[in-house]
Amino acid sequence: MIRDLTINDSENYLRLGKVLNNNFNSLFNLDSILNNDNEKIIGYYDNDKLVGFIHISISFEVYDIVNIVVDSDYRNKGIGTKLLNYVIDNNLECKKLMLEVRENNNNAIKFYKDNGFELINVRKNYYGDEDALIMKRDVNMKDVFILAVESSCDETSMAIIKNGNECIQLTVLTQMDVHAEFGGVVPEIASRMHTENITMVLEETLTKAKMTMEEIDAIAVTYAPGLLGSLLVGVEFAKTLSYIYDKPLIAVNHIAGHIYANNLESQMKFPLLALVVSGGHTDLILMKDDYVFEKLGGTLDDAIGECYDKVARVLGLKYPGGPNVEKLALEGEYTYDLPIPMNDETLNISYSGLKSSIINLVHNETQRGNEIRKADLAKSFQEVAVDQLVRKSEIAIKKYDVKNMIIAGGVSANKRLRERIKELTDQYNIDLSIPRMIYCTDNAAMIGAAAYPLYLKKQFADLDLNASSNEEIY
Ligand code: KG4
Ligand code: ZN
Repeated sequence: MIRDLTINDSENYLRLGKVLNNNFNSLFNLDSILNNDNEKIIGYYDNDKLVGFIHISISFEVYDIVNIVVDSDYRNKGIGTKLLNYVIDNNLECKKLMLEVRENNNNAIKFYKDNGFELINVRKNYYGDEDALIMKRDVNMKDVFILAVESSCDETSMAIIKNGNECIQLTVLTQMDVHAEFGGVVPEIASRMHTENITMVLEETLTKAKMTMEEIDAIAVTYAPGLLGSLLVGVEFAKTLSYIYDKPLIAVNHIAGHIYANNLESQMKFPLLALVVSGGHTDLILMKDDYVFEKLGGTLDDAIGECYDKVARVLGLKYPGGPNVEKLALEGEYTYDLPIPMNDETLNISYSGLKSSIINLVHNETQRGNEIRKADLAKSFQEVAVDQLVRKSEIAIKKYDVKNMIIAGGVSANKRLRERIKELTDQYNIDLSIPRMIYCTDNAAMIGAAAYPLYLKKQFADLDLNASSNEEIY
């Protein structure tokens, strides 16, 4: 059996290690190895007796082999190879194995060569009067195909994503036309339509990708946040696929999905500032690493998408409001005098005052029998709404010294926002990434991209996964 060592293995660990070096205990103290997050020590056990181990020191995707030892009675049984393969199979982020070996240790050199290592360098007098050979093995990662399911609102979507950054096939079946008749998403209709369409969306996705379920490595699904009934359809469907085809299940947060949509364009570089703008979110987030989200600031009341939708409604525009307000704004001028929200140095954002002022303005002008210049009002609203995001992003950029910025969420489809944030990042010499339009609005490709780091970390969900309407990532 192969498993991590524990402190109970001390005695056998020392017995094996002494063969390598008389000072073994002080050089490679088991207690300190077990307490170091960047080290791994894995043992091969005959019944319960430790008969071999591999000690690894980890630096990101490079795994340095510190020691690999097998009890003399257990040599030539392939135990060393089994330990090596175990490390590779269970640490999907491992891309390279490195080691140093004494130039005269012919047995060890042969073992490493047989296991795919090559000599890349010689370090003179590394062991006092003896040279060290530096050897390396690239771990050829097998391509990973994730089937992703997204049904949190009014799009039934599935995608197949390769290695977290390449979209093989994206299918989006939107219910927009049906909900437009009601002026907004009707939750009961949305979940019923997901149920009716989801199998068909799967068939189309696999057919167009020319793939079968057997070629899929994992199933990812949006479990939160969103409309509960809609989320449940996707979650139950994904759980069923995971069970039937015996594939791991990955639970993805929808907002993490919007953020990771950027990996479909270019690999995100940390630390980065993420501006998340959607129907339910308007947040500034600092990411220092994969899945490390720190909320710096955000809306105290309404989300920007919600505000766009409300303004669309009072202007008599059809659902979905955001794109229609944007279209109308193109024909208008910034002539209405609207209140500038949150004109301060905090990272707080607000849209309720702006929203109310537009509702009141339309109401008062209509009562007085005055004509509303709709295009001008759309333009004026958009300028004020977008400007607030630019001001707050600038404060965050200055305060946190970020070098990369991304925009995520449905409102990132807005061209004026894209243009203004681009000017800002150019001014501060910051790399900007914005997903292309199809990956901005709700889609399953972003869910597959967000699932990939979880796949590498083997953070799989159980079959008792439940949907949640409001779970946040930070
Ligand atoms: O991310 P998303 O598709 O769904 C949520 O997770 O909320 O975002 C939807 C929101 C809606 O409020 C929609 O009106 C807004 O994004 N939106 C836009 C644009 N496209 C979508 N808002 C402004 N301009 C756009 N071009
Ligand atoms: Zn969304």
